[in-house]
Amino acid sequence: MATLNRPHALLLPFPSQGHVNPMMQLSNILFSRGYYITFVNTEYIHDRMLKSESTNFKADFRFETIPDGIPPELSRTHNQLDEICKSLVDNCPAHLEKVVNKLKENPDVPPLTCIVYGSFMSWAQKTANRLGIPGIAFWTPSACGSYIYLSASLLVENGYIPLKDKSYLTNGYMEEEISCIPGMPLLRMKDVPSFFYDASRYIFEFLITQTQASMTADFMLINTFDELEEPVMQALRARFPVYGIGPLLEAEQQNGLSNSFASLWTEEKSCMQWLDDQELGSVVYVCFGSITVMSDQELVEFAWGLEGSKQPFLWVIRPDLIHGTSAKLPTEFVEKVKGRSFFASWAPQLEVLFHPSVGGFLTHSGWNSTLESICAGVPMICWPFFADQQINRTYVSQIWKIGIAMNDVVERREVEEMVKRLMIGKEAEEMKRRVGELRDASIRAVSKGGSSYNNLEKALLKMQGKNR
Ligand code: UDX
Repeated sequence: MATLNRPHALLLPFPSQGHVNPMMQLSNILFSRGYYITFVNTEYIHDRMLKSESTNFKADFRFETIPDGIPPELSRTHNQLDEICKSLVDNCPAHLEKVVNKLKENPDVPPLTCIVYGSFMSWAQKTANRLGIPGIAFWTPSACGSYIYLSASLLVENGYIPLKDKSYLTNGYMEEEISCIPGMPLLRMKDVPSFFYDASRYIFEFLITQTQASMTADFMLINTFDELEEPVMQALRARFPVYGIGPLLEAEQQNGLSNSFASLWTEEKSCMQWLDDQELGSVVYVCFGSITVMSDQELVEFAWGLEGSKQPFLWVIRPDLIHGTSAKLPTEFVEKVKGRSFFASWAPQLEVLFHPSVGGFLTHSGWNSTLESICAGVPMICWPFFADQQINRTYVSQIWKIGIAMNDVVERREVEEMVKRLMIGKEAEEMKRRVGELRDASIRAVSKGGSSYNNLEKALLKMQGKNR
Protein backbone atom coordinates (compact mmCIF):
# COMPACT_ATOMS: atom_id res chain seq x y z
CA MET A 1 0.00 0.00 0.00
CA ALA A 2 1.31 3.48 -0.84
CA THR A 3 2.55 5.12 2.36
CA LEU A 4 0.06 7.98 2.24
CA ASN A 5 -2.88 5.56 2.02
CA ARG A 6 -1.87 3.58 5.08
CA PRO A 7 -3.83 3.90 8.32
CA HIS A 8 -1.59 5.70 10.82
CA ALA A 9 -1.50 4.82 14.53
CA LEU A 10 0.34 6.92 17.09
CA LEU A 11 1.36 4.79 20.09
CA LEU A 12 2.27 6.33 23.44
CA PRO A 13 3.41 4.01 26.25
CA PHE A 14 3.82 4.89 29.94
CA PRO A 15 7.61 5.41 30.25
CA SER A 16 8.68 2.18 31.89
CA GLN A 17 10.09 -1.15 30.66
CA GLY A 18 7.00 -3.23 31.43
CA HIS A 19 4.80 -0.82 29.47
CA VAL A 20 7.10 -0.12 26.52
CA ASN A 21 7.52 -3.82 25.64
CA PRO A 22 3.82 -4.67 25.12
CA MET A 23 3.26 -1.36 23.26
CA MET A 24 6.11 -2.37 20.96
CA GLN A 25 4.46 -5.77 20.41
CA LEU A 26 1.15 -4.10 19.55
CA SER A 27 2.95 -1.76 17.14
CA ASN A 28 4.57 -4.75 15.46
CA ILE A 29 1.19 -6.40 14.95
CA LEU A 30 -0.42 -3.20 13.63
CA PHE A 31 2.56 -2.68 11.30
CA SER A 32 2.09 -6.21 9.94
CA ARG A 33 -1.54 -5.25 9.24
CA GLY A 34 -0.49 -2.33 7.06
CA TYR A 35 -0.34 0.46 9.62
CA TYR A 36 2.11 3.34 9.52
CA ILE A 37 3.49 3.52 13.08
CA THR A 38 4.55 6.57 15.06
CA PHE A 39 5.95 5.43 18.41
CA VAL A 40 6.23 8.23 20.97
CA ASN A 41 8.71 7.70 23.81
CA THR A 42 9.91 10.05 26.48
CA GLU A 43 13.44 11.28 25.68
CA TYR A 44 14.84 9.44 28.72
CA ILE A 45 13.38 6.07 27.72
CA HIS A 46 14.34 6.50 24.07
CA ASP A 47 17.90 7.36 24.95
CA ARG A 48 18.18 4.25 27.18
CA MET A 49 16.61 2.11 24.49
CA LEU A 50 19.15 3.27 21.92
CA LYS A 51 22.10 2.90 24.30
CA SER A 52 21.20 -0.67 25.23
CA GLU A 53 22.30 -3.15 22.62
CA SER A 54 19.24 -5.31 23.24
CA THR A 55 16.34 -4.10 21.19
CA ASN A 56 14.30 -5.70 18.48
CA PHE A 57 11.80 -3.53 16.70
CA LYS A 58 10.94 -2.59 13.16
CA ALA A 59 13.37 -0.07 11.71
CA ASP A 60 10.42 1.29 9.71
CA PHE A 61 8.64 2.67 12.76
CA ARG A 62 8.75 6.42 13.02
CA PHE A 63 10.02 7.43 16.48
CA GLU A 64 9.19 10.74 18.12
CA THR A 65 10.25 11.82 21.60
CA ILE A 66 8.79 14.14 24.20
CA PRO A 67 10.51 15.36 27.40
CA ASP A 68 9.20 13.92 30.68
CA GLY A 69 10.14 17.19 32.38
CA ILE A 70 12.67 15.62 34.78
CA PRO A 71 16.39 16.50 34.47
CA PRO A 72 18.19 13.71 32.58
CA GLU A 73 20.74 13.06 35.34
CA LEU A 74 18.03 12.15 37.88
CA SER A 75 17.08 8.50 38.20
CA ARG A 76 13.57 7.26 37.43
CA THR A 77 13.18 4.51 40.01
CA HIS A 78 10.00 3.65 41.88
CA ASN A 79 11.03 6.16 44.61
CA GLN A 80 10.51 8.95 42.10
CA LEU A 81 7.11 7.71 40.86
CA ASP A 82 5.20 10.67 42.35
CA GLU A 83 7.51 13.22 40.71
CA ILE A 84 7.52 11.34 37.41
CA CYS A 85 3.74 11.03 37.24
CA LYS A 86 3.22 14.69 38.14
CA SER A 87 5.76 15.79 35.60
CA LEU A 88 4.18 13.63 32.87
CA VAL A 89 0.79 15.23 33.41
CA ASP A 90 2.21 18.76 33.63
CA ASN A 91 4.60 18.55 30.67
CA CYS A 92 3.66 15.90 28.16
CA PRO A 93 0.23 16.98 26.85
CA ALA A 94 1.63 20.15 25.21
CA HIS A 95 4.54 18.18 23.73
CA LEU A 96 2.22 15.53 22.34
CA GLU A 97 0.26 18.31 20.63
CA LYS A 98 3.53 19.53 19.08
CA VAL A 99 4.30 16.03 17.77
CA VAL A 100 0.82 15.73 16.30
CA ASN A 101 1.13 19.12 14.60
CA LYS A 102 4.56 18.20 13.23
CA LEU A 103 3.13 14.99 11.76
CA LYS A 104 0.27 16.95 10.21
CA GLU A 105 2.66 19.34 8.47
CA ASN A 106 4.78 16.55 6.99
CA PRO A 107 3.53 15.76 3.45
CA ASP A 108 5.23 12.34 3.51
CA VAL A 109 3.27 11.12 6.52
CA PRO A 110 -0.29 9.79 6.23
CA PRO A 111 -2.95 11.53 8.33
CA LEU A 112 -3.38 10.15 11.85
CA THR A 113 -6.07 7.48 12.15
CA CYS A 114 -5.99 6.84 15.92
CA ILE A 115 -4.01 7.31 19.14
CA VAL A 116 -3.27 4.28 21.30
CA TYR A 117 -2.04 5.34 24.74
CA GLY A 118 -0.95 3.40 27.81
CA SER A 119 -3.85 3.51 30.27
CA PHE A 120 -1.82 5.65 32.70
CA MET A 121 -1.30 8.21 29.90
CA SER A 122 -5.03 8.76 29.41
CA TRP A 123 -4.60 12.53 29.28
CA ALA A 124 -3.85 11.79 25.60
CA GLN A 125 -7.56 11.14 24.98
CA LYS A 126 -8.03 14.92 24.80
CA THR A 127 -5.69 15.12 21.80
CA ALA A 128 -7.60 12.30 20.08
CA ASN A 129 -10.88 14.14 20.79
CA ARG A 130 -9.51 17.39 19.41
CA LEU A 131 -8.42 15.62 16.22
CA GLY A 132 -11.76 13.79 15.99
CA ILE A 133 -10.07 10.38 15.76
CA PRO A 134 -10.46 7.30 18.00
CA GLY A 135 -8.48 7.31 21.26
CA ILE A 136 -7.73 3.85 22.59
CA ALA A 137 -6.61 3.04 26.14
CA PHE A 138 -4.23 0.08 26.16
CA TRP A 139 -4.09 -1.67 29.55
CA THR A 140 -0.71 -3.38 29.81
CA PRO A 141 -1.39 -4.93 33.27
CA SER A 142 -3.54 -8.06 33.68
CA ALA A 143 -7.33 -7.72 33.32
CA CYS A 144 -7.72 -8.46 37.04
CA GLY A 145 -5.18 -5.72 37.83
CA SER A 146 -6.74 -3.28 35.37
CA TYR A 147 -10.18 -3.99 36.84
CA ILE A 148 -8.97 -2.98 40.31
CA TYR A 149 -7.60 0.30 38.92
CA LEU A 150 -10.88 0.90 37.11
CA SER A 151 -12.80 0.19 40.34
CA ALA A 152 -10.77 2.62 42.46
CA SER A 153 -13.67 5.06 42.92
CA LEU A 154 -15.88 2.17 44.06
CA LEU A 155 -13.24 1.25 46.64
CA VAL A 156 -13.16 4.86 47.82
CA GLU A 157 -16.99 5.07 48.01
CA ASN A 158 -17.11 1.87 50.03
CA GLY A 159 -14.48 3.16 52.44
CA TYR A 160 -11.76 0.58 51.64
CA ILE A 161 -9.21 3.13 50.43
CA PRO A 162 -7.32 5.24 51.36
CA LEU A 163 -6.25 3.70 54.68
CA LYS A 164 -7.31 5.72 57.73
CA ASP A 165 -3.78 5.55 59.08
CA LYS A 166 -0.61 3.44 58.88
CA SER A 167 -1.77 1.06 61.64
CA TYR A 168 -4.12 -0.51 59.05
CA LEU A 169 -1.07 -2.02 57.36
CA THR A 170 -0.40 -4.23 60.37
CA ASN A 171 -3.71 -4.62 62.25
CA GLY A 172 -5.11 -7.45 60.12
CA TYR A 173 -6.99 -5.11 57.75
CA MET A 174 -4.84 -6.23 54.80
CA GLU A 175 -6.41 -9.70 55.02
CA GLU A 176 -9.93 -8.26 54.78
CA GLU A 177 -12.00 -9.47 51.83
CA ILE A 178 -13.43 -6.92 49.43
CA SER A 179 -16.91 -7.74 48.22
CA CYS A 180 -17.96 -4.59 46.34
CA ILE A 181 -16.33 -5.49 42.99
CA PRO A 182 -18.45 -7.97 41.01
CA GLY A 183 -16.57 -10.72 39.15
CA MET A 184 -13.58 -10.67 41.51
CA PRO A 185 -13.67 -13.39 44.13
CA LEU A 186 -10.76 -13.77 46.57
CA LEU A 187 -9.93 -10.08 46.46
CA ARG A 188 -8.33 -8.86 49.67
CA MET A 189 -7.00 -5.48 50.70
CA LYS A 190 -3.44 -6.74 50.25
CA ASP A 191 -4.20 -7.35 46.54
CA VAL A 192 -5.08 -3.69 45.95
CA PRO A 193 -2.12 -1.68 44.53
CA SER A 194 -0.40 -0.04 47.50
CA PHE A 195 -0.54 3.29 45.61
CA PHE A 196 -4.15 3.46 46.79
CA TYR A 197 -3.37 3.22 50.50
CA ASP A 198 -2.11 6.77 50.99
CA ALA A 199 -4.14 9.70 49.60
CA SER A 200 -1.40 12.20 50.44
CA ARG A 201 0.81 10.74 47.68
CA TYR A 202 0.45 12.30 44.24
CA ILE A 203 0.20 8.87 42.62
CA PHE A 204 -3.15 8.31 44.36
CA GLU A 205 -4.68 11.30 42.57
CA PHE A 206 -2.79 10.46 39.36
CA LEU A 207 -4.17 6.93 39.14
CA ILE A 208 -7.70 8.00 39.93
CA THR A 209 -7.69 10.75 37.28
CA GLN A 210 -5.93 8.66 34.63
CA THR A 211 -8.23 5.67 35.07
CA GLN A 212 -11.28 7.98 35.01
CA ALA A 213 -9.97 9.52 31.78
CA SER A 214 -9.37 6.05 30.29
CA MET A 215 -13.11 5.43 30.69
CA THR A 216 -13.72 8.13 28.08
CA ALA A 217 -11.62 6.24 25.51
CA ASP A 218 -13.41 5.03 22.40
CA PHE A 219 -12.50 1.55 23.59
CA MET A 220 -9.93 -0.34 25.64
CA LEU A 221 -7.46 -3.08 24.76
CA ILE A 222 -5.98 -5.49 27.31
CA ASN A 223 -2.95 -7.73 26.87
CA THR A 224 -4.76 -10.86 28.03
CA PHE A 225 -7.06 -13.47 26.52
CA ASP A 226 -10.73 -13.98 27.40
CA GLU A 227 -10.36 -17.63 28.44
CA LEU A 228 -7.67 -16.76 31.00
CA GLU A 229 -9.63 -14.09 32.86
CA GLU A 230 -13.21 -14.73 31.74
CA PRO A 231 -15.23 -13.58 34.81
CA VAL A 232 -13.22 -10.37 35.02
CA MET A 233 -13.44 -9.77 31.28
CA GLN A 234 -17.21 -10.31 31.47
CA ALA A 235 -17.52 -7.81 34.30
CA LEU A 236 -15.37 -5.31 32.39
CA ARG A 237 -17.34 -5.81 29.18
CA ALA A 238 -20.53 -5.04 31.08
CA ARG A 239 -19.13 -1.56 31.82
CA PHE A 240 -16.82 -0.68 28.93
CA PRO A 241 -16.07 -1.57 25.30
CA VAL A 242 -12.99 -3.71 25.98
CA TYR A 243 -11.08 -6.28 23.95
CA GLY A 244 -8.61 -8.90 25.18
CA ILE A 245 -6.10 -9.20 22.33
CA GLY A 246 -3.22 -11.04 24.00
CA PRO A 247 -0.91 -12.52 24.73
CA LEU A 248 0.66 -10.17 22.19
CA LEU A 249 3.99 -12.00 22.32
CA GLU A 250 2.15 -15.16 21.25
CA ALA A 251 0.21 -13.24 18.60
CA GLU A 252 3.53 -12.09 17.14
CA GLN A 253 4.80 -15.66 17.06
CA GLN A 254 1.63 -17.07 15.50
CA ASN A 255 1.80 -14.36 12.83
CA GLY A 256 5.36 -15.34 11.97
CA LEU A 257 6.77 -12.09 13.40
CA SER A 258 9.87 -11.98 15.56
CA ASN A 259 9.18 -10.85 19.13
CA SER A 260 9.66 -7.14 19.66
CA PHE A 261 11.17 -5.63 22.75
CA ALA A 262 13.16 -2.56 23.71
CA SER A 263 15.35 -3.41 26.68
CA LEU A 264 16.61 -0.53 28.78
CA TRP A 265 19.57 -2.68 29.85
CA THR A 266 21.94 -4.74 27.69
CA GLU A 267 21.27 -8.46 27.83
CA GLU A 268 23.98 -10.89 28.93
CA LYS A 269 23.57 -13.39 26.13
CA SER A 270 26.24 -15.74 27.51
CA CYS A 271 23.67 -17.15 29.94
CA MET A 272 22.18 -19.02 26.96
CA GLN A 273 25.36 -21.12 26.52
CA TRP A 274 25.28 -21.89 30.23
CA LEU A 275 21.65 -23.00 29.91
CA ASP A 276 22.63 -25.27 26.98
CA ASP A 277 24.85 -27.23 29.41
CA GLN A 278 22.15 -27.80 32.04
CA GLU A 279 19.77 -30.72 32.32
CA LEU A 280 16.30 -30.56 30.80
CA GLY A 281 13.81 -28.70 33.03
CA SER A 282 16.29 -28.41 35.90
CA VAL A 283 17.01 -24.65 36.09
CA VAL A 284 15.17 -22.10 38.23
CA TYR A 285 15.11 -18.71 36.52
CA VAL A 286 15.13 -15.92 39.14
CA CYS A 287 14.23 -12.41 38.04
CA PHE A 288 12.28 -9.57 39.63
CA GLY A 289 11.58 -7.42 36.57
CA SER A 290 12.63 -3.87 35.87
CA ILE A 291 11.49 -1.87 38.92
CA THR A 292 11.48 -4.13 42.00
CA VAL A 293 13.95 -3.21 44.71
CA MET A 294 14.80 -5.24 47.78
CA SER A 295 16.94 -4.96 50.89
CA ASP A 296 20.36 -6.54 51.38
CA GLN A 297 18.79 -8.90 53.88
CA GLU A 298 16.13 -10.07 51.39
CA LEU A 299 18.83 -10.70 48.78
CA VAL A 300 20.80 -12.81 51.25
CA GLU A 301 17.71 -14.83 52.25
CA PHE A 302 16.93 -15.56 48.58
CA ALA A 303 20.57 -16.55 48.06
CA TRP A 304 20.70 -19.09 50.89
CA GLY A 305 17.25 -20.41 49.99
CA LEU A 306 18.43 -21.09 46.44
CA GLU A 307 21.60 -22.69 47.77
CA GLY A 308 19.59 -24.96 50.07
CA SER A 309 17.28 -26.08 47.23
CA LYS A 310 20.26 -27.70 45.45
CA GLN A 311 18.72 -26.76 42.08
CA PRO A 312 20.77 -24.99 39.39
CA PHE A 313 19.66 -21.39 38.92
CA LEU A 314 20.05 -18.37 36.64
CA TRP A 315 19.63 -15.19 38.67
CA VAL A 316 19.18 -11.70 37.21
CA ILE A 317 20.55 -9.09 39.60
CA ARG A 318 19.95 -5.67 38.06
CA PRO A 319 22.53 -2.99 38.95
CA ASP A 320 19.77 -1.10 40.82
CA LEU A 321 18.04 -4.08 42.48
CA ILE A 322 19.15 -3.24 46.01
CA HIS A 323 17.87 -0.15 47.87
CA GLY A 324 20.51 2.58 47.59
CA THR A 325 23.55 0.32 47.15
CA SER A 326 24.95 -2.40 44.89
CA ALA A 327 24.16 -6.06 45.50
CA LYS A 328 26.66 -7.95 47.66
CA LEU A 329 26.29 -11.70 47.79
CA PRO A 330 28.04 -13.54 50.66
CA THR A 331 31.40 -14.96 49.42
CA GLU A 332 30.67 -18.31 51.10
CA PHE A 333 27.40 -18.55 49.18
CA VAL A 334 29.08 -17.73 45.84
CA GLU A 335 31.68 -20.44 46.51
CA LYS A 336 29.04 -23.03 47.39
CA VAL A 337 26.89 -22.47 44.28
CA LYS A 338 29.81 -22.37 41.81
CA GLY A 339 29.08 -24.69 38.91
CA ARG A 340 25.33 -24.65 39.35
CA SER A 341 24.60 -20.94 39.10
CA PHE A 342 24.77 -18.09 36.63
CA PHE A 343 24.40 -14.42 37.56
CA ALA A 344 23.40 -11.83 34.98
CA SER A 345 22.59 -8.13 35.25
CA TRP A 346 19.88 -8.43 32.56
CA ALA A 347 18.90 -11.51 30.59
CA PRO A 348 17.17 -12.20 27.27
CA GLN A 349 14.13 -13.23 29.35
CA LEU A 350 11.93 -14.58 26.57
CA GLU A 351 14.70 -16.79 25.20
CA VAL A 352 15.51 -17.92 28.74
CA LEU A 353 11.94 -18.91 29.57
CA PHE A 354 11.58 -20.82 26.30
CA HIS A 355 14.87 -22.68 26.85
CA PRO A 356 14.26 -26.40 27.56
CA SER A 357 16.60 -26.35 30.59
CA VAL A 358 14.34 -23.92 32.45
CA GLY A 359 11.78 -25.63 34.67
CA GLY A 360 10.58 -22.87 37.02
CA PHE A 361 10.48 -19.11 37.45
CA LEU A 362 10.90 -17.22 40.73
CA THR A 363 9.29 -13.92 39.73
CA HIS A 364 7.91 -10.61 41.01
CA SER A 365 4.70 -11.37 39.06
CA GLY A 366 4.87 -8.39 36.70
CA TRP A 367 2.23 -8.98 34.04
CA ASN A 368 4.69 -9.35 31.15
CA SER A 369 6.75 -11.86 33.11
CA THR A 370 3.60 -13.78 34.05
CA LEU A 371 2.34 -13.91 30.46
CA GLU A 372 5.78 -14.86 29.16
CA SER A 373 5.94 -17.69 31.68
CA ILE A 374 2.49 -18.93 30.67
CA CYS A 375 3.42 -18.81 26.97
CA ALA A 376 6.59 -20.79 27.71
CA GLY A 377 4.70 -23.29 29.91
CA VAL A 378 6.83 -22.55 33.00
CA PRO A 379 5.31 -22.62 36.55
CA MET A 380 6.14 -19.82 38.98
CA ILE A 381 6.91 -18.80 42.54
CA CYS A 382 5.39 -15.35 43.10
CA TRP A 383 7.02 -12.66 45.24
CA PRO A 384 5.20 -9.48 44.17
CA PHE A 385 6.51 -5.97 44.75
CA PHE A 386 3.73 -3.51 43.77
CA ALA A 387 1.01 -2.46 41.30
CA ASP A 388 -0.94 -5.37 39.77
CA GLN A 389 1.65 -7.89 40.95
CA GLN A 390 -0.15 -8.79 44.20
CA ILE A 391 -3.40 -9.70 42.44
CA ASN A 392 -1.40 -11.54 39.76
CA ARG A 393 0.09 -13.66 42.56
CA THR A 394 -3.40 -14.55 43.79
CA TYR A 395 -4.56 -15.54 40.30
CA VAL A 396 -1.41 -17.55 39.53
CA SER A 397 -1.53 -19.49 42.81
CA GLN A 398 -5.24 -19.77 43.66
CA ILE A 399 -7.22 -19.48 40.44
CA TRP A 400 -4.99 -20.88 37.69
CA LYS A 401 -2.95 -22.99 40.13
CA ILE A 402 0.20 -22.65 38.03
CA GLY A 403 2.43 -21.35 40.78
CA ILE A 404 3.06 -20.86 44.46
CA ALA A 405 2.45 -17.67 46.46
CA MET A 406 5.38 -16.61 48.62
CA ASN A 407 4.95 -14.64 51.81
CA ASP A 408 6.02 -11.00 51.66
CA VAL A 409 8.73 -11.57 54.29
CA VAL A 410 11.60 -13.47 52.65
CA GLU A 411 12.90 -16.35 54.72
CA ARG A 412 15.57 -18.72 53.41
CA ARG A 413 13.84 -21.90 54.59
CA GLU A 414 10.62 -20.89 52.84
CA VAL A 415 12.51 -20.07 49.62
CA GLU A 416 14.26 -23.47 49.75
CA GLU A 417 11.02 -25.35 50.38
CA MET A 418 9.16 -23.46 47.64
CA VAL A 419 11.86 -24.02 45.04
CA LYS A 420 11.74 -27.75 45.81
CA ARG A 421 7.92 -27.75 45.53
CA LEU A 422 8.18 -25.85 42.22
CA MET A 423 10.70 -28.20 40.65
CA ILE A 424 10.21 -31.71 42.04
CA GLY A 425 7.31 -34.07 42.76
CA LYS A 426 3.56 -34.38 42.12
CA GLU A 427 2.61 -30.76 42.83
CA ALA A 428 5.32 -29.58 40.41
CA GLU A 429 4.01 -31.96 37.73
CA GLU A 430 0.44 -30.75 38.24
CA MET A 431 1.46 -27.09 37.94
CA LYS A 432 3.45 -27.93 34.81
CA ARG A 433 0.44 -29.71 33.31
CA ARG A 434 -1.91 -26.81 34.06
CA VAL A 435 0.42 -24.11 32.74
CA GLY A 436 0.84 -26.25 29.60
CA GLU A 437 -2.95 -26.18 29.16
CA LEU A 438 -2.97 -22.40 29.50
CA ARG A 439 -0.10 -22.14 27.01
CA ASP A 440 -2.15 -24.17 24.50
CA ALA A 441 -5.22 -22.01 25.21
CA SER A 442 -3.17 -18.86 24.60
CA ILE A 443 -2.06 -20.19 21.21
CA ARG A 444 -5.67 -20.99 20.31
CA ALA A 445 -6.77 -17.50 21.41
CA VAL A 446 -4.41 -15.68 19.03
CA SER A 447 -4.79 -18.14 16.13
CA LYS A 448 -7.35 -17.57 13.34
CA GLY A 449 -10.87 -17.77 14.79
CA GLY A 450 -9.64 -17.57 18.42
CA SER A 451 -10.98 -15.01 20.91
CA SER A 452 -8.02 -12.61 20.79
CA TYR A 453 -7.77 -12.93 17.02
CA ASN A 454 -11.45 -12.04 16.60
CA ASN A 455 -11.22 -9.24 19.17
CA LEU A 456 -8.29 -7.73 17.29
CA GLU A 457 -10.30 -7.83 14.05
CA LYS A 458 -13.14 -5.90 15.75
CA ALA A 459 -10.70 -3.45 17.31
CA LEU A 460 -8.99 -2.83 13.95
CA LEU A 461 -12.32 -1.82 12.40
CA LYS A 462 -13.00 0.59 15.25
CA MET A 463 -9.48 1.99 15.08
CA GLN A 464 -10.11 3.22 11.58
CA GLY A 465 -13.24 4.97 12.76
CA LYS A 466 -15.54 2.27 11.39
CA ASN A 467 -18.29 0.96 13.72
CA ARG A 468 -17.58 3.77 16.20
C1 UDX B 1 5.80 -3.16 35.56
C2 UDX B 1 4.88 -3.58 36.69
O1 UDX B 1 5.69 -3.91 37.77
C3 UDX B 1 3.99 -4.69 36.24
O2 UDX B 1 3.29 -5.26 37.29
C4 UDX B 1 3.08 -4.14 35.22
O3 UDX B 1 2.15 -5.10 34.79
C5 UDX B 1 3.92 -3.66 34.05
O4 UDX B 1 4.95 -2.77 34.49
P1 UDX B 1 8.10 -4.70 35.35
O5 UDX B 1 8.73 -4.68 36.67
O6 UDX B 1 8.77 -3.98 34.29
O7 UDX B 1 6.57 -4.27 35.23
O8 UDX B 1 7.87 -6.27 35.03
P2 UDX B 1 7.19 -7.00 33.81
O9 UDX B 1 5.79 -6.56 33.56
O10 UDX B 1 7.36 -8.44 34.07
O11 UDX B 1 8.08 -6.54 32.56
C6 UDX B 1 9.45 -6.70 32.50
C7 UDX B 1 9.87 -6.94 31.06
O12 UDX B 1 11.28 -6.87 31.01
C8 UDX B 1 9.45 -8.30 30.53
O13 UDX B 1 8.99 -8.18 29.21
C9 UDX B 1 10.73 -9.12 30.59
O14 UDX B 1 10.83 -10.11 29.59
C10 UDX B 1 11.79 -8.07 30.40
N1 UDX B 1 13.05 -8.47 31.07
C11 UDX B 1 13.13 -8.48 32.42
C12 UDX B 1 14.11 -8.84 30.29
O15 UDX B 1 14.03 -8.85 29.06
N2 UDX B 1 15.27 -9.22 30.92
C13 UDX B 1 15.41 -9.23 32.26
O16 UDX B 1 16.49 -9.59 32.75
C14 UDX B 1 14.31 -8.83 33.04
